[in-house]
Amino acid sequence: MNKTVSMAAAALALVTTMTACGSGSESEGAGGGAEGGGGGDTIVLGFSQVGAESGWRTANTKSIKQSAEDAGFELRFSDAQQQQENQIQAIRSFIQQGVDVIAFSPVVESGWDTVLVEARAADIPVVLTDRAVETDEDDVYETFLGSDFVEEGRKAGRWLVDEYADSDEEVRIVELQGTTGSAPANDRRDGFAEIIGEDDKFEVIASQDGDFTRSGGQEVMQAFLSSHDDIDVLYAHNDDMALGAIESIEAAGLEPGEDIKIISVDGIKDAFQAMADGKINVVVECNPLLGPQLMDLVEKVHAGEEVPERVKVEEGVFTQDQAEEELPNRKY
Ligand code: AHR
Repeated sequence: MNKTVSMAAAALALVTTMTACGSGSESEGAGGGAEGGGGGDTIVLGFSQVGAESGWRTANTKSIKQSAEDAGFELRFSDAQQQQENQIQAIRSFIQQGVDVIAFSPVVESGWDTVLVEARAADIPVVLTDRAVETDEDDVYETFLGSDFVEEGRKAGRWLVDEYADSDEEVRIVELQGTTGSAPANDRRDGFAEIIGEDDKFEVIASQDGDFTRSGGQEVMQAFLSSHDDIDVLYAHNDDMALGAIESIEAAGLEPGEDIKIISVDGIKDAFQAMADGKINVVVECNPLLGPQLMDLVEKVHAGEEVPERVKVEEGVFTQDQAEEELPNRKY
């Protein structure tokens, strides 16, 4: 068996292991690329996705798959099911396969140095999308495409400050955090705290991880309600957790949006519907439709072109009075 064939066999074995472990891996796209790895005319892109935890993520995955197809890339897609070890395994498999470019959305911020150094040693460019990493290593990724999560947290805080501008009474807030250690959870918490910290009438009385899922939001909100009977505001780090929390608020005989004001992040259709129904007060937008920009960056790094170190996404803030009109325009 020559070296190329044995490398391809090893890569295939790894992909099979990844699938057996539950970190679903699939290959799709133009085909016609080099077998087992890059090197042909078609760009082979290995992409490791966080999981399928939210409406945002589903829209993000769809955008990436569609854009890779439109660009004529061969996409090797792996779903990490929100486990960092699955992502590390997937990235190692992409390195073994010799893909042209690796892109991933890191489930948490830390713990990537070793695998990123391995990609650098294999001379495979890495593009980060959606979430950032903390690293002490130089030149382990080419660019990072995604939202400014700190700014999203600030936008949420600014809405709250405006909403209570005419009141001197204490405002008691519960916070549903995203996955512990993830960039959006860290940054949305910090940006929000920075703004509300300017006025000590705002107090975060409880803060807990709801893992960005509907069931997580529902369970944690239920626990908040059983230990606090004086909650004024819920700040949820994403729509799915806010929607889950609404179920618990209603089950407790309270009116979401009235008895407890709700601030959420993302802007999925279901959240706009909840806003139109008066159950969510404000949504800070986080755009998941990153596929076209990602493919553009992948093409450029593959061609050895200069790319900006950071590419941010433009996003808005939507309130109840805009929800009805905006609903038909939502693309995710
Ligand atoms: O990283 C983006 C975040 O991850 C989205 O806000 C959330 O819905 C998703 O799970």
